[in-house]
Amino acid sequence: MAQSKENSNVLVIHGPNLNMLGKREPEIYGKTTLDEINASLEKLGKRLGLTVEAFQSNHEGAIVDKIQDAAVTQKGLIINPAAYTHTSIAIRDALLLLDIPVIELHISNIYKREPFRHTSVISDVATAQIAGFGVQGYRMALEALARMIQNR
Ligand code: DQA
Repeated sequence: MAQSKENSNVLVIHGPNLNMLGKREPEIYGKTTLDEINASLEKLGKRLGLTVEAFQSNHEGAIVDKIQDAAVTQKGLIINPAAYTHTSIAIRDALLLLDIPVIELHISNIYKREPFRHTSVISDVATAQIAGFGVQGYRMALEALARMIQNR
């Protein structure tokens, strides 16, 4: 798929508690760890001509800082804001600074869960959303992002 010689940099942001994947509510989020997800994305990225950087934080401000940096360094963004999906206007505002494709990612289908998870304050500022495919959704998101970057 990659046509240019230089890889495009893409960023994957994992929000709060996603560092606990594998241990955290495995019946909802599965048994795959965050390190395994990141390693799989890095490998897939190489095939797609993408250099994948992964970042996890439990802190809203750190995520905002990272999104601001992405505006100058990255060609695309996959973000699972985790619980901040439902609350963070600060993350939403930071995403509005970006002029790159942004995929909002959820491991679970947030629309089949508690009512407070049905609202995402970032979905209307993201390019697209993937939810409910389990951790496989990350690979789907990266493949979609590669196409979006190529078609720009
Ligand atoms: C999540 C869904 C959120 O509601 C939750 O707070 C998470 C993970 C998901 O990937 O399904 O931490 O974003």
